[in-house]
Amino acid sequence: MNRAKNAPLPPKLIPNLGLKSRNTFGLEVSAERAFEITQPDQIPALMDEIAQNQWAWRVLGGGSNVILPPVLSGATLLMNIAGQEVANEDGSNTYLLVGAGVNWHELVQWTLTHNLPGLENLALIPGTVGATPIQNIGAYGVEVAQYIESVTAFDTHKNAFVTLSNKDCQFAYRDSHFKQNPNRYIVTEVLFKFPKAWQPRVHYADLAKFFADQSNADLAPTLSPQEIFDAVCQVRTQKLPDPKVIGNAGSFFQNPIVSTEQYNALVQQFPNIVSYPDAAGKRKLAAGWLIDQCGFKGKRLAEAGVYEKQALVIVNYGNASASDILNLAKQIQETVQKQYGVTLDIEPNIL
Ligand code: EPU
Repeated sequence: MNRAKNAPLPPKLIPNLGLKSRNTFGLEVSAERAFEITQPDQIPALMDEIAQNQWAWRVLGGGSNVILPPVLSGATLLMNIAGQEVANEDGSNTYLLVGAGVNWHELVQWTLTHNLPGLENLALIPGTVGATPIQNIGAYGVEVAQYIESVTAFDTHKNAFVTLSNKDCQFAYRDSHFKQNPNRYIVTEVLFKFPKAWQPRVHYADLAKFFADQSNADLAPTLSPQEIFDAVCQVRTQKLPDPKVIGNAGSFFQNPIVSTEQYNALVQQFPNIVSYPDAAGKRKLAAGWLIDQCGFKGKRLAEAGVYEKQALVIVNYGNASASDILNLAKQIQETVQKQYGVTLDIEPNIL
């Protein structure tokens, strides 16, 4: 991307910045030193300064997948690197280079208006582009990893920018090399690959049902990317709470993956258990179903609660702190463990 060639201006420092509107849980948080990163070149000198002062540090993108403590001491890097441009094109693919600070949903809309379909199933996921490879966001049968060619990041171990290929990123369900190496990489740009051959993917239960209900299921092969985008937006809006209305971080738990053996034993005891096929010898269970069955839907503990329409989501009733949320999460984990012998892992990053 055409970034400034001159020596970069140092990032803007904002002391004691309130982050309530910058985390979708809506937690009251103060960042001791917030640095606004607008271009990758600002990062090396800032990381030197952070090392010299021995400050703790972390990166904040859209704040949509984090649980923040009341005070973030040290340095908080606000990732605001903008821009998207077609970097390359060949007979089969178009490659799009995007800055880490670009809003994800706006990017999805932009790609559709620029005839680059593929990301429509991932509409309305809150957050920024730089965060998407870290937890390999996914929804309605698509994971972002399928569209990532490479990721450029500042590697704080090597003190240099590196570009990791899709393979190097070691993508898996809600997982990646970046997630496995916390506080090592600062993602600056993502190169997306859009195959020119496009096919609708509407097999995921909620989407299939949406189109069946429209009584045009037979038309599935003729659906346009925009129609799928609109459907995903409607389905998501019906099921998931809008963070602007009630604070939340989407799915609070990952869907647990168990062995076929454990799954078979569970099915014997709980014939209605909801699950999906996974890798050979494994089965993915619907965490939402397990939590719902334990009676948590709509349950409130202090200022945190389980969303009444979707047991996989924890919400902030207004003044929740990180500990209110984590106390409720612990109750849920203990109950599910006792009832089903299944461990639930928390999905957002706890900082
Ligand atoms: N279920 C219940 N009760 C509930 C919620 C769910 O019984 O309160 C059952 C339903 O029967 C449903 C099944 O559990 O069939 C699965 O529920 P749902 O489809 O709502 O959730 P999911 O498929 O497990 C995943 C992602 C979501 C993503 C949707 C759509 C995870 C952890 N979550 O949920 O991602 O939007 O698929 O593809 O993988 C996110 O990561 O923040 C997120 C919202």
